[in-house]
Amino acid sequence: MIKKGNLYWPSKGLQKRAWVKSKKIYQEAQKRPIKFWEKLAREIFWHKKWKKAFLHQPPYFKWFIGGKLNITENCLDKNLEHNKNKVALIWEPEPTEESSRTFTYYELYSQVNRMANALKKLGVKKGDRVGIYLPMIPEVIISMLACARIGAVHAVVFSAFSPQALKIRLQITKAKILITADGYFRRGKVINLKENAEEGIKDTQVKKVIVVERAHNQITWKKGRDFKFHDLLETERRLCPSAIMDSEDLLFILFTSGTTGIPKGCVHTCGGYTVQAKFTGRWIFDLKEDDVFWSMADIGWITGHTYSCYSPLLNGTTFLIFEGAPDWPTPDRWAQIIEKYGVTTFYTAPTAIRMFEKYGAEFLTKYKFNTLQILGSVGEPIDEAAWRWYFTKVGKKRCPIVDTWWQTETGGILITSLPGVGPFKPAFTGLPFPGVKVDIWDEKGKSLPPNKEGNLVILPPFAPGLLREVYKNPQKYLKTYWSQYGKKVYFTSDAALKDENGLIRIVGRVDDVIKVAGHRLTTGELEAAINLHEDVTECAVVGIPDEIKGEVPVAFVVLKKKRHPQKIKEVIISKIRAEIGPIALPKEVYLVEDLPKTRSGKIMRRILRRLFTKEPLGDLSTLANPESVDIIKMKT
Ligand code: PRX
Repeated sequence: MIKKGNLYWPSKGLQKRAWVKSKKIYQEAQKRPIKFWEKLAREIFWHKKWKKAFLHQPPYFKWFIGGKLNITENCLDKNLEHNKNKVALIWEPEPTEESSRTFTYYELYSQVNRMANALKKLGVKKGDRVGIYLPMIPEVIISMLACARIGAVHAVVFSAFSPQALKIRLQITKAKILITADGYFRRGKVINLKENAEEGIKDTQVKKVIVVERAHNQITWKKGRDFKFHDLLETERRLCPSAIMDSEDLLFILFTSGTTGIPKGCVHTCGGYTVQAKFTGRWIFDLKEDDVFWSMADIGWITGHTYSCYSPLLNGTTFLIFEGAPDWPTPDRWAQIIEKYGVTTFYTAPTAIRMFEKYGAEFLTKYKFNTLQILGSVGEPIDEAAWRWYFTKVGKKRCPIVDTWWQTETGGILITSLPGVGPFKPAFTGLPFPGVKVDIWDEKGKSLPPNKEGNLVILPPFAPGLLREVYKNPQKYLKTYWSQYGKKVYFTSDAALKDENGLIRIVGRVDDVIKVAGHRLTTGELEAAINLHEDVTECAVVGIPDEIKGEVPVAFVVLKKKRHPQKIKEVIISKIRAEIGPIALPKEVYLVEDLPKTRSGKIMRRILRRLFTKEPLGDLSTLANPESVDIIKMKT
């Protein structure tokens, strides 16, 4: 990388290799974004070409109207022509003594087709929703693609989510079938996933459960309802004709946490998502057919969907998925994996980078990382120190860091500089992807000049992969994304600024979302879980800065009766574990007498947060109960 001032530029070598080598593409795309996306869409295989590229009926919009396609034909069938025997997927299990598994494009194609036939036999039809509650094993990829093959809509639920979290997602989607596993390995332990699934499907419409035998742990089995994944596949044919999907038919639903504890199902559709997934992967990670791409995110998150499944396949690349934790059983497990498979493109989150850094650089001395070409970061702002460590110790100052900004809602990356174009600047995500118009606005909707912080917005025609609706909840869709600045401007809920070169820096969320180790939670859903406790009068949860995880939640709880405080704290924590899962556990639960409130009764969470950030608390005189702050201060 070439350093000029505080900017880094790609070397000649990087530029030469890259799909996109010059800035010109930005101008072309900026002038006629719809035409630009159409040009990209033409590289996808369609059964029928679209009649109109973009239709805007605020707050709704459509892309490639009238187009017919199936994403799996673009991911699999298309690759049989040239890449039939090439490895598509590498799976690294957590136990080091267990062998990895690989699937060529043909093998993956066969498995997906068999699974698609099996789903059909079990009564799954086009448009039906299928719940998937699986860990990072190849069967999760096979299941998602099998759904897409027959036009069923997959709704993947993160395997570390609790049975309650699974239940509500199954209830909202009304899934009649769930694909899960007996268990999986995490830090040397077997997690009994089937037990959680059993609990989660109670009071839902799930009638059939497909179980992958992964950990071979003891599980309960209900004859007639439960089916073994591999038994189903064995008897099925290797060919399943793909459903011809309308561009705007649903491809998948993926939930993000909501304010009230009710999650929001982000709806992604077939045509636009395919185009965006393919080209963001190709240009941002510079995916070539001889690359080995490893995105560390779990499939339960959007990063897993787009960059650990669809995008690498759409680009005919080899990609890797890993079952375990990157620092287990030794802190260098992730580095071993990079070396073992010659990973060329590595995509992770700042939390992981900070964790690797904390282990100290000594354990990395034996790794040269000379296969790596591009590094990626996602999910939360990367601070300058972590950026520099990643750039120097992992990328050896050779590899650009694509700091990619996007959301579950956007389906694919929308902001980051391109590896062959640049520039890259520590702690800045970079330039919007060609064809994407973003801006920074003040509260009134005025565009802000460089270096002024405001709200990040996305302007029409948005991007083909942006969510189309919140599943079965049009009010939520309108209120969350299309109310702040009217129905024609997408409000991201992120604060950001752009520098004089147009590079964007993400400051953080302006709503109640907190990013804990890159995982998206809302303080509202934690509060809803705590409020389930009968002794709780009220509570407030805030995210406070954490050296490794970026942010962690802490809870302030007012009790009706002050009995057995320690026990109550434990019960509150177990409530959160049961309602959401272990990722949401608060760092501390403070039992307090009162919460700071405005005179109209609004809890001032901002003040609670500032007790930890050491920012000035501001004017407390407007509070109804300023004394509450001093009392809480003593407890924290
Ligand atoms: O606040 C932004 C942050 O993550 C949010 C979206 O979270 P989620 O839907 O879980 O998707 C994460 C993975 C795509 C955003 O609103 N975020 C995401 N990427 C970045 C980021 N913050 C700073 N820098 C990023 N690169």
